Amino acid sequence: MAQLWGGRFTKETDQLVYNFNASISFDQKFYEQDIKGSIAHVTMLAKQNILTEAEKEKIIAGLQGILKDVKAGVLEISDKYEDIHSFVEATLIDRIGEAGKKLHTGRSRNDQVALDMKLFTRDEVTAINGLLKELLEVLYTIMKDNTETFMPGFTHLQKAQPITLAHHMGAYFEMFKRDRSRLHDIYERMNYCPLGSGALAGTTYPLDREYTAELLGFYGPTLNSMDSVADRDYLIELLSALSTIMMHLSRFSEEVIIWNSNEYRFVEIDDAYSTGSSIMPQKKNPDIAELVRGKTGRVYGALMSLLTTMKGIPLAYNKDMQEDKEFVFDAIDTAKGCLALFTGMLRTMRFNNTVMENSAKNGFTNATDAADYLVNHGVAFRDAHGIVGQLVLYCIEKDIALDDMTLEEYKAISPVFEEDIYEAISMETCVNKRMTIGAPGKEAMEQVIGIYEKYLAES
Ligand code: ARG
Repeated sequence: MAQLWGGRFTKETDQLVYNFNASISFDQKFYEQDIKGSIAHVTMLAKQNILTEAEKEKIIAGLQGILKDVKAGVLEISDKYEDIHSFVEATLIDRIGEAGKKLHTGRSRNDQVALDMKLFTRDEVTAINGLLKELLEVLYTIMKDNTETFMPGFTHLQKAQPITLAHHMGAYFEMFKRDRSRLHDIYERMNYCPLGSGALAGTTYPLDREYTAELLGFYGPTLNSMDSVADRDYLIELLSALSTIMMHLSRFSEEVIIWNSNEYRFVEIDDAYSTGSSIMPQKKNPDIAELVRGKTGRVYGALMSLLTTMKGIPLAYNKDMQEDKEFVFDAIDTAKGCLALFTGMLRTMRFNNTVMENSAKNGFTNATDAADYLVNHGVAFRDAHGIVGQLVLYCIEKDIALDDMTLEEYKAISPVFEEDIYEAISMETCVNKRMTIGAPGKEAMEQVIGIYEKYLAES
């Protein structure tokens, strides 16, 4: 047991209490941020003449040495310290002596941990944003290559109207683009520096909080010292954004699983991203997509856990807040892993274009267009709906598609039909007539793809 606060105690902490209280097993994850924050803090202390230049130099050299040694694996972060802050400070004092004892001047672990967590989160937000961009790039490539790859669009998982693969992928492009924008908002809101807030009420030292904030790349200092040490909103926002990312990945995974099934065969997952069965030799399972779908629950769980943890905490810092870390770390690792794996799976997945196109044809996805044909020839829409209903029934009985009926068969149901019905209900026509912005028609799609190209180049 090694603690920073033994002075007012007459007895050792019970070992079980110590273990229960300690956070070093997980907060060692941000040792680098802790040291970076300390370096900024002492730089500011020296500028304010609270420390001498010599003391500053000595402390910074000591901190840099610790950083280097931990990174190189020469210095082990020992669990005999309560948390990462105690480990760094104690190691520093061990290595440089008296000057090290001045590191914590004008600081509390409350503003220190608030800073460390923010620095850590900020880097992770940037990393996740990068992973989302890689996924968007894969989606963009698929879109560009498939503006004329026809497939059925579904509602209620029933074939509805024909679309293209580009259009379907574009829906996910929009989702993941919104996810990036959510991360951007979180970054903008959280990027204010809590250091200098002390335990809760600031400090009596003449700290220059603007300077520390600037040194650490923040937009400025936070404006209320109590809120600074008690705020975990940005973590809740991040968990919420990660939950939404996972929800999107999970929906996409579900589609990949359906499309990869024996019945659909719309796609084939690459061998490198599928697994086999220990008993059934014929199996090639979509485990990665299933795991992504499954892991979504973990991230939702983290969000609910932290919301619940925070709901009854009076101002300002309370130890409950130490519980923020494991949830957040796990959710970040999970979301990052899922994003990377899903992107790899998508990049290597093969689409069976012919199967998709035949599926669109066989599913009467052009029935609406047949009705529109009649309307264009003077039939009222409700009557047209009824006539096409009869056509569909006829085709189901004969097990054929609307495209396979002869003109005589058409005319037997309605004399309005002429030779041009075939052109009117072809996949090309059905899709390309849908040319309003956001629709699957080739021209509309190409316009959107152009917007996406610009978006990817600029963000
Ligand atoms: N390990 C603590 C946490 O994660 C650091 C802050 C400790 N502050 C305190 N007053 N005990 O929240």
